[in-house]
Order: sequence, then structure tokens, then C-alpha cells
Amino acid sequence: MNEAHFRNINKTGEHQEENIPEESAIHCDGVVKIYFSDTSRVMALQGMDFFVKKGEVIGIIGKSGSGKSTLLNMIGGLEMPTAGKIYVNGRDLTTLKEKEMVQYRRKTIGFVWQRSARNLFPYMTVLENVKAPMYFEKGTGKERFRRAMMLLEEVGMAEQADKFPAQLSGGEQQRVAIAVALANAPSILLADEPTGAVDTGTADKIFRLFCKLNEDLGLTIVIVTHDLSLADKVQRIVRIADGKVSTEKIRRERYTGSFHDEYVVLDKANRLQLDDEILRQAGIQGKRVQVQVIDGRIVISRSSQSR
Ligand SMILES: Nc1ncnc2c1ncn2[C@@H]1O[C@H](COP(=O)(O)OP(=O)(O)OP(=O)(O)O)[C@@H](O)[C@H]1O
Ligand SMILES: [Mg+2]
Repeated sequence: MNEAHFRNINKTGEHQEENIPEESAIHCDGVVKIYFSDTSRVMALQGMDFFVKKGEVIGIIGKSGSGKSTLLNMIGGLEMPTAGKIYVNGRDLTTLKEKEMVQYRRKTIGFVWQRSARNLFPYMTVLENVKAPMYFEKGTGKERFRRAMMLLEEVGMAEQADKFPAQLSGGEQQRVAIAVALANAPSILLADEPTGAVDTGTADKIFRLFCKLNEDLGLTIVIVTHDLSLADKVQRIVRIADGKVSTEKIRRERYTGSFHDEYVVLDKANRLQLDDEILRQAGIQGKRVQVQVIDGRIVISRSSQSR
């Protein structure tokens, strides 16, 4: 069985169209991604259910190989799911025609990558880099210049407009990359480890910039990161494990400050995934646990036959 075959199964209607809520920016419904090669198959996403509201800033964390980049690439329309549906602003990406998909990538989504070499053309100045994506859209030279300068102002790089990327620090390059991603006024910004190649102080500033853009422009932002201290600055943190959402942390504001409550996420079939660390702390080994309801609480404990 190959990928095309899997997609056909998908098209025959395993998933029915649902009513997607108004406030939904991104809605992944049972997304499966299998990478096929001649000799192997890798199941990068294993029935991922994932939801982002319009105007939310969320962080995605998870071990290497857990499927974070795969998820972002799917949402960005760079790859298609093997099965399942992805709705962005209410539109089902799996039904878009090629031309619609090109428009979608250009206008709805802005991407920021970890390596600035992937974000910026080295032979163009900062200003030219920000203007470059605008040439695919209508507009005069004056309008492009004004918008590019406005975006560089927004990311605090207007004074460096005439420099080349090599003349900037890693953090400055990433700020320009964010301006480039915003060139065509996308409603969603996707960032795959945007602070992976900069020091902690710079990473902190870049994170603050994302939060400022969310407040100033109402952008929906999804940031993949390895850095837990940075992830704590966003409203919601989603942990991915083995191609599925395993836990979510949601920020609550209190007069003493803000903190995150952590929740384990149930999938559609009410299955939940327990972290290795939690199992270790509870002294649970083996493949069986005992589940009981005690005083209205679900208690999971070591089974006497946990082999
Ligand atoms: N193009 C591809 N072909 C084959 N396998 C792939 C491809 N891209 C990703 N994979 C596999 O899919 C799984 C998920 O990869 P993914 O890149 O999404 O992980 P990740 O969570 O982003 O990891 P990292 O933190 O290291 O960036 C991994 O097992 C990876 O080897
Ligand atoms: Mg990755």
C-alpha cells in the first residue's frame, strides 16, 4: 500500500465534514501522516486532533521526532496528510486545488524557520528581502516600500533596512525573517524553532516580539520550541508525543502572577497518554494499570498483575 492509496481511502469519506466553529483558526481532525520509502514507513502523525482559536499564541513542544515539524508543514500546506482533515479558517486544505493552495501558502500563512538562511536571501538587503514576497501580489513600488518599512518598524529593524543579512546578528536576522513572513499580511504565523540558533537573551526578545505581534496585529501564532522557559510565555502549550497531542498547559492569570495548569488530553476515543515521568513517579511499570473511580476521581494505580 502506498501514500496515494491511503489518500484515496481518505477521500472515500471516512471523515465527514463537521461544523467548524467560527472562532477556529486551525482544526486538525484525526490527521495521519505516513512517510513511505522503498524499504520503510514512518508514521509521523498518528491521528492528531489539534485546535487553535483565532488570535491565540500557542507553543508546541515534544521530543525530537515526535512530529512537530510534520504538523507545522501540514498546516502550512507544504505537505498533505495521508488521512484526516485540516481546516484553516474554516477551509478544508485537503480539498484545495493547486492554484488555491499556492494562494493559501502566500496569503494565509507566514513561516519562520530555525535557520535564517532558509528565511532570507543573502544577496538582498533587509528591505529587499521584506519586499520580495510582495511582488506576487498587486501593488505599486511605493506601497511595497511603505509596507516593508512599516513591518521593519514593527520588528524593530527599520534602521538596518539597507544592510545585508550577513551584516546582522542571528537574532536580528530572525526579526527580519518575521517581517518577511508578515509581508503579505497572513492571518497565521507558523514558526519552527525560531530561536533554536540564538542565545537565551535573544530568544527571549524574539518570543516577546511574537507576543507583541499577536497583540498589535491580532495574529494567530504557533511556535515550535525546545525551550520550556520560553514556551511558558505563551497562552497555551501543547505537548506532542509519538505523533499525537499528549498534554496541554493553559495559562491562568492570578493577582500573584500567571501560571500554567497542565491537562492530559483525551483523544476522540477517550484514550489518554501518560508521560513516562508520571508513571515512574507512581512506580508504575509494565503494560497494565488499575483504573477506579474513588470519590468522583479517577485513580490509576499499579496493577497487581502489571506484566
Ligand atoms: N520527509 C520525510 N521522510 C521520511 N521520514 C520523515 C520525513 N520527515 C520526517 N520524517 C520522520 O517523521 C517523524 C517526525 O518527524 P518531525 O520532523 O516532524 O519531528 P520533530 O518533532 O519536528 O523533531 P525535531 O525536534 O528533531 O525537529 C520522525 O521519525 C522523522 O524521522
Ligand atoms: Mg522539527
